[in-house]
Amino acid sequence: MSDTMQQLQETVSYIRGLVSGEAATGIILGSGLGNLSNVIVTEKEISYNDIPHFPVSTVEGHKGRLIFGELGGKKVWVMAGRFHFYEGYTAQQVAFPVRVMRLLGVQTLLLSNAAGGVNPAFGIGDLMIINDHISLFTVNPLLGKNEDKLGTRFPDMSEPYSKELIKLAREIAVKHNISLQQGVYTGVTGPTFETRAEYKLIHILGGDAVGMSTVQETIAAVHCGMRVFAISVITDLGIREEENTITHEEVLQAAKEAEPKLTLLFTELVKSL
Ligand code: HPA
Repeated sequence: MSDTMQQLQETVSYIRGLVSGEAATGIILGSGLGNLSNVIVTEKEISYNDIPHFPVSTVEGHKGRLIFGELGGKKVWVMAGRFHFYEGYTAQQVAFPVRVMRLLGVQTLLLSNAAGGVNPAFGIGDLMIINDHISLFTVNPLLGKNEDKLGTRFPDMSEPYSKELIKLAREIAVKHNISLQQGVYTGVTGPTFETRAEYKLIHILGGDAVGMSTVQETIAAVHCGMRVFAISVITDLGIREEENTITHEEVLQAAKEAEPKLTLLFTELVKSL
């Protein structure tokens, strides 16, 4: 068995020793978006520090807990806090918890993130359904020997984000009067925010938003056969004005303000699965 499979099995059996319940849905919460965990009826909460082979999340705004509980009447696994490439983890480490969720039985993965908007139609606080991504500026988590037990060597990426889940989310949004943007998320490594020239380039290349997470998790999830739904909270607008700057605090604040809409959308989405 490969080292990765060995580690995955050790992690899964540790978690299985604490939680025997099953959940078909997994959720990973982004920067400043951890509050969804407060509406979950928690059955078990495990600190990342205690989980074998789990990296420890270092970024502010991430609580670093794996939660098993109920949301919208359904059992869910929730990662409150994710691992980012910019923290110094490898792309494989970033993807590790996604694979753990798969081996725990998760089939559908919901992801949220804070992102910079580069589509001029976007405003701060908008929610953007990710309908595709550009992952050429980050490191692919599937580099290296393929884990054949998880998925194929050359995974198809023609529909990384499930059209069916996007349709469901749009219906829910209409029903609850939540306005939604839709677009292409461009993954970058960070930790620097983009320069003016980079935001412009990303827009020219076809990106609508840019962020430092999600694409590696999505690739790993698609590789092992999961359905993915992902949404960005637009927390800044890619330096449009001369004097404009971007800080992590502003990103967290904007995420916090948009969070109730996201919590409602995720709750209803899970309910309808
Ligand atoms: N760029 C990259 N990552 C981000 C941004 C951004 O503007 N906003 C929030 N995360």
